[in-house]
Amino acid sequence: PPDGLALTPPMGWSSWNKFAEHIDDKTVREIADAMVSSGLRDAGYVYVNIDDGWQGTRAADGSIQANERFPDMKALADYVHSKGLKLGIYSSPGPKTCAGYEGSYGHVAQDAQTYASWGIDYLKYDLCSGEAFYQTGAQIRASYQEMGQALRATGRAIVYSLCEYGRADVGSWGRSVGGHLWRTTGDITDEYEVMARLGFELNGKPQHAGAGGWNDPDMLEVGNGGMTHDEYQTYMTLWAMSAAPLLMGHDVRHMSAATVALLENPEVIAIDQDVLGAQGQSVRKDGDSEIWRKPLADGSVAVALFNRGAQSKTMTLTVADSGLSAWQSGRDLWQQQEVILQPQLTFTVAAHGSQLLRLQGQQ
Ligand code: GLA
Repeated sequence: PPDGLALTPPMGWSSWNKFAEHIDDKTVREIADAMVSSGLRDAGYVYVNIDDGWQGTRAADGSIQANERFPDMKALADYVHSKGLKLGIYSSPGPKTCAGYEGSYGHVAQDAQTYASWGIDYLKYDLCSGEAFYQTGAQIRASYQEMGQALRATGRAIVYSLCEYGRADVGSWGRSVGGHLWRTTGDITDEYEVMARLGFELNGKPQHAGAGGWNDPDMLEVGNGGMTHDEYQTYMTLWAMSAAPLLMGHDVRHMSAATVALLENPEVIAIDQDVLGAQGQSVRKDGDSEIWRKPLADGSVAVALFNRGAQSKTMTLTVADSGLSAWQSGRDLWQQQEVILQPQLTFTVAAHGSQLLRLQGQQ
């Protein structure tokens, strides 16, 4: 049964893309502070997720302990909560995590109880190691179900992120094991071609997405420096159109005004977070040009124009592309201004760039 969590795609930050295992209590606190002072929290980014690298050894009673970089996980959760944010953590169904730390194998219920006792609000559960036990789709699914049940048994509201790279058609069962989001791909990197392959081609089936359960094409790299501004804008456009989780992966303490503008644009975030929960999809492709459509709860439509080519391009958009029969008004969401409507709109779209519109009109 639905638990009322993740009614829209989760938003927040995760330590992995920038810090990998070089993450500690002090950095997490500083990131939390920066999420407040930069306005990111108020823009909707509320989860502060510690990824792999926090785990130490197990105590005599089998309970998992954090390593020396995290002296007091409960105190850290209290701090993050005091900032109006939520704390996430990471484990694996296998004996070891992807970075070789202690996994939850054999300690699933105990670990869920430990997380709950610390005040954890989000778990990313990442299938690494244990290949011997996790070969078939049924075995993978059972391992996710075991942790899903263990989390539920704690009575705490914990968002459950499944990370098994889209194996065994996870989108078709992710919800039924208690999952709120499930990775559809291998790891993203801070490179346009990788982001584009995941975001355009491997972002999961739209019929699986909706309130309480989302396809996850992996976290954001915006602000990490490997892409141009236009490419990062495309990243945000594509993730918003896909109703993808928005989990930032940069150093929030040090970011440019341009990065803030990409991450905090309220009209773009509203497309991602629209309560209809529809995952947008491509409706017209022409060489390197793609038009995507995402229906919205108020009857309007988000339309994105993507130029996947390496040269800037003139692209046109027709009323028919939008799925409406006539347009009454339109917003350019990156410019945050009204669009002067004509039966056919023409845009110059930068190389690897995008346009994002919200169109209102007759259905
Ligand atoms: C896998 C995941 C990443 C990250 C690392 C941590 O590669 O896909 O997102 O969690 O493990 O080791």
